[in-house]
Amino acid sequence: MKTQELMDTARAMVADDKGLLAMDESTPTCDKRFAKLGIPRTVEARRAYRELIVTTPGLGESISGAILYDETIRQQKKDGTSFVKAITDAGIIPGIKVDTGAKDMAGHPGEKITEGLDGLRDRLAEYSRMGARFAKWRAVIAVGEGIPSRAAIEANAQALARYAALCQEAGLVPVVEPEVLMDGEHTLERCGEVTEEVLRTVFNQLYTQRVTLEGMILKPNMVLPGLTCPKQEAVDEVADATVRCLLRAVPAAVPGIAFLSGGQPSELASARLNAMNVRFRSRLPWALAFSYARAIQQPALEIWRGDAAQVLAAQQALYHRAQCNRAARRGEYSAAMDAGGVNQQKRA
Ligand code: G3H
Repeated sequence: MKTQELMDTARAMVADDKGLLAMDESTPTCDKRFAKLGIPRTVEARRAYRELIVTTPGLGESISGAILYDETIRQQKKDGTSFVKAITDAGIIPGIKVDTGAKDMAGHPGEKITEGLDGLRDRLAEYSRMGARFAKWRAVIAVGEGIPSRAAIEANAQALARYAALCQEAGLVPVVEPEVLMDGEHTLERCGEVTEEVLRTVFNQLYTQRVTLEGMILKPNMVLPGLTCPKQEAVDEVADATVRCLLRAVPAAVPGIAFLSGGQPSELASARLNAMNVRFRSRLPWALAFSYARAIQQPALEIWRGDAAQVLAAQQALYHRAQCNRAARRGEYSAAMDAGGVNQQKRA
């Protein structure tokens, strides 16, 4: 394992106030999002959409790395250039999602365990040969009555740590993503308790599995009230609760924390990240960055809708959201950057 290279890559992934673009939707997830907008669910439509993303002019100004999916890392632009080359030429580091999805956990109704460890060493070697320099694995933790169970937290944490160790052995930076889901009525406090327990367990397992913390990125959820919780806290309260939780559970050796968006409205995801950086940036040991999929892509997808005539407009929307999130890393995002503004979103 080349530890220095891992550390350099991990630092580069959160350098210059940039962040990650998750474009790693599995085929079923991508098809589901296409279906909602009446876009054909075909290999070619998915390829065309991914080409729109990777050819967005100026994307590398705010995006340091892009997470691809197995189908996407093997695809090319219409002119035959591989997506990996297109991304690299744009100054963006290619990464790859390597878990094979969250499946029902035996004996634990309502809970999931992420699969994909079998054969992972060989798949990582192949992705590395294809140009990937980091990888991602997502575990999902549901909150509800009697859940999450210790069993689900421990099983998912152990899988994340075993994946991370294999990544580092292959020279790929692991992006460790334990996602506490937003679905449910739970309060912000409950999300904070669960997220803290999950993160403490994940870092215990990362230590046990001998993962070098300096050569990884953490991709957590923000601490948020459940989607149907009657009390929806303001942006600053979310920022405070999230940073408090991270300070308790994430070792200072980790170079960067890149949040998932989890289905938050795009403007709100920018505003919350911004508030964390405004209030805490100078006092934190790690960079607070983003690794959004929906919160960057959704406006562009809604403009494109499969129509070639809308590619430029969709690329402008994608570029804009990426820029907003770079501004949020600096604590310089404001509602004025967004036509319509964050005030139109559910803010408090
Ligand atoms: O695993 C999930 C993605 O990498 C992040 O997606 O920002 O839409 O939650 P999201």
